[in-house]
Amino acid sequence: MAIQYYERERVWKLDTKNTTYVIGEFDEEHFLGHIYYGKRLAAHDLGYVLGGQESGFLPSRNTKDRVNFMGTFAMEYPTHGLGGNREEALRIVDGNGHGTMQLQYISHEIYPGKKAIPGLPATFGTTADVETLEITAEDVLLHLKVILKYSVFEATDVVTRYVTIENCSEQTVTLTQVMSACIDMPNEQFDMITVHGNWAREGQIDRARIMHGTHSVESMCGKTSHDYQPFLAICSHNADQNRGEVYGLNMVYSGNFIARVTNSFPDQLRITMGIHPSDFRWILQPGDRFDTPEVVMTYTDCGIGQMTRNLHDQYRNHLIQGKYAHAKRPILLNNWEATYFDFDTQKLLRIAKQAAELGIEMLVVDDGWFGRRNDDNSSLGDWFVNEEKLPGGLKTLVDQVNALGLKFGLWFEPEMVSPDSDLYRAHPDYAIAVPGRRAGMARNQYVLDLGRSEVVECVYGMLKQVLSSANIEYVKWDMNRALCDLGSYGLPADRQGELLHRYVMGVYELQGRLLRDFPNLLLENCSSGGGRFDPGMLYYSPQIWTSDDTDGLERIQIQEGIAMIYPLSSMGAHVSDCPNHITGRTVPFETRGQVALAGTFGYELDVTRIPEADRNCIPSQVKMYHQYHELISEGDYYRLLSYSENHQVDAYMVVDKKREEALVSCIFVQNRPGDNSRRIKLQGLDPEKYYRIIGESREYSGEELMYIGLLADTPWAGGDYRGRLFHLQCR
Ligand code: DGJ
Repeated sequence: MAIQYYERERVWKLDTKNTTYVIGEFDEEHFLGHIYYGKRLAAHDLGYVLGGQESGFLPSRNTKDRVNFMGTFAMEYPTHGLGGNREEALRIVDGNGHGTMQLQYISHEIYPGKKAIPGLPATFGTTADVETLEITAEDVLLHLKVILKYSVFEATDVVTRYVTIENCSEQTVTLTQVMSACIDMPNEQFDMITVHGNWAREGQIDRARIMHGTHSVESMCGKTSHDYQPFLAICSHNADQNRGEVYGLNMVYSGNFIARVTNSFPDQLRITMGIHPSDFRWILQPGDRFDTPEVVMTYTDCGIGQMTRNLHDQYRNHLIQGKYAHAKRPILLNNWEATYFDFDTQKLLRIAKQAAELGIEMLVVDDGWFGRRNDDNSSLGDWFVNEEKLPGGLKTLVDQVNALGLKFGLWFEPEMVSPDSDLYRAHPDYAIAVPGRRAGMARNQYVLDLGRSEVVECVYGMLKQVLSSANIEYVKWDMNRALCDLGSYGLPADRQGELLHRYVMGVYELQGRLLRDFPNLLLENCSSGGGRFDPGMLYYSPQIWTSDDTDGLERIQIQEGIAMIYPLSSMGAHVSDCPNHITGRTVPFETRGQVALAGTFGYELDVTRIPEADRNCIPSQVKMYHQYHELISEGDYYRLLSYSENHQVDAYMVVDKKREEALVSCIFVQNRPGDNSRRIKLQGLDPEKYYRIIGESREYSGEELMYIGLLADTPWAGGDYRGRLFHLQCR
């Protein structure tokens, strides 16, 4: 049993393989307190941690200091208005305009398995994988029920949380802030790790000491954004890849979020994560309920690398779904950087023919195949083929591509509408805008109000028709602007604050329907590169385009940050042409291939026009992908050296679960005279097993490779950006 309730102690204990999470009921007022989250414990008589022995501090018996109690008690789910100046998890406005709430424990339920969250993506598992605890608390004055839901995945050391609010009263209540998770704990001189970025520079890792005050990362642009990942980790000062305590939290959501840490007197930390309260107001009529998105939490005392591996296993086994969750992805060639908008059937077929000869497996036609779209100024929303470019329509093209032995994929940007489009001319009210105010455009486009079911129907009808018209086996779902001018023609005045969350649920509805109707479809999400790379999107698409920046050097850093949270199998990564279209840098073709190998692997170039020497590399890169894809997508990932930190070498490795095979990837970014050999300490091997490096005759013990290190020679006078792969196999 992963979850135990100890009635005498009034304690719930949630155990994973290596961690324990403990909640307690306290005082005659039935407060729910947070007792502990950390390394696995045998003890369960832990109610004393909440301070129950000191009767002077029992609010039910000593009302004199009630406010002090409220200000310092470690609440499991703090509400507004009772005292203390820390940020609450829940804020409401009741029918009288008041915001105060007090939760009291009412009942609980423990059951095997995990229920889906209506309308939202969430982790899942069988009754053998996961057990769930639901604790119901109530504000007895308002009759508002708050159900705290915890699911325990023992094998991956993950506890997930979300909250359901039920209005059991006779009055309307407005939710103004509903966090998905809150953890109160003593501050032990922790650091905070977050991941920030911008367009073409996603995945940058930040780490800083947690000072007093509030520190947060957030999105207020309607999608997760390039700016911050919906993720934060708290770790001990000494934590590195292999050592130290780390708490990782990641939100399964694709809209506005906030992840916040408050360090306040007397050195208490409060971590909250949930939908951003800015632009959020949700009306609960009597009988209504609201479900928050889910937060995934993991704890380890074995360093940042172990946090990463816990999240990777959780996402590979309990979040990513469908045919391609564990299946090999086709090597695709996307025509965006090859042609941009300038293509027709003949050009695409020339590329496809050459691609097929080189071993590439799928052609993806990116932006520009529909409406009258020859640049980014028109036609979003007009999802019918442009027969001037593709005479005979998609079927004619796709059949010919298939005849060459390639699969076919297609780009859409379903959430958008161009002002110059038939859709906008027919339904200007489908766009998000405030009546009477000129709505702002970005990339010359508006955002469709997907919170409205008629808009979802309309968009879905067009997508379905296109996807049914030919053998289309892959969709790249793009999203190229943030949301603003928040007004919906479909919502009454008092519900305008629901627009953003309804929008995100509309996106989920669309993607869910797509996968139900086309179960064999491979979906790749994208948002101007990695502007919506989050666990919510991963629930629908096993891979996400990581960044528009395909420069081999930039990608090393971007992929390091994204891979700290998400599995390698989810990172869209392609080899593109040089000089790179964004940075102007030239990285050797072989190295570009090695960098893309850390993700889904594909190409983003015109194979008919690249230098012959580069083209000749492709068959061996294709072979490399086939050889290593399983190890890379299913193995344990270890970050060995960080170019972002050392400015010289990038190195990571993947090890299969039996610790019998491994692949080490090193990229020597700068060729420095005299720096021609380096010991790289490997990780994750079995110290007692013997490994052979393919291509060498000598055998090494796992302990030698991990404690002395692998001797990696840098190619002498080889120039910058030289990569080396080491394939290790057990005796
Ligand atoms: C942004 C994406 O990130 C690119 O890969 C490409 O699909 C363009 N949009 C097309 O407009």
